[in-house]
Amino acid sequence: MNDDLRALIRTIPDFPKPGIQFRDITTLLLDPAGLAACVERMVAATEGPVDLVAGIEARGFLFAAALAVPLRAGVLLIRKDGKLPGATIAEDYALEYGSDRIAIHADACAPGARVLLVDDLIATGGTARAAVRLLRKAGAEVRQAQFVVDLPDLGGAQRLRDEDIAVSALVA
Ligand code: PRP
Ligand code: ADE
Repeated sequence: MNDDLRALIRTIPDFPKPGIQFRDITTLLLDPAGLAACVERMVAATEGPVDLVAGIEARGFLFAAALAVPLRAGVLLIRKDGKLPGATIAEDYALEYGSDRIAIHADACAPGARVLLVDDLIATGGTARAAVRLLRKAGAEVRQAQFVVDLPDLGGAQRLRDEDIAVSALVA
């Protein structure tokens, strides 16, 4: 069904490290019809009302903002540590090609806020699982996560489902 979107995503071998097959969504972003279809399908896949769409830096920001407008939700930025000006809470995580630390403002969401987590891609799930830990620590209710691309061989979507998150991705 999403073959049109799959065709707009290219694979760059050995980026950023030898052996990594990097799924490059910049080609999808450049295509007006593809970008619109991508956002519309993610909005259609969203279950129930959402108070906030949480996007993961950097590529997740693009989709989080695009979904938040039609969903009439706010945008919560999950940033690489050291970028947010206010008091933060942070989590470390490992990813396919390294490790990192993400943070949110400690007061970014009201307790019980219904948060949809969004990113461009899930691979090992290290980033998304750290994001869920952070959001739950802040008191959010996180039940769903959406991605443009899933790399199922790396197991991240399954790990997220094991943590009671409904996961959907347009291209696997
Ligand atoms: C990429 C991607 C996801 C993450 C997925 O981000 O946008 O956030 O990796 O990998 P994982 O499932 O193994 O954790 P990256 O850290 O490369 O940052 P960027 O968006 O700033 O390029
Ligand atoms: N993030 C983690 N693994 C990735 C991959 N193979 N392509 C693009 N982004 C990624």
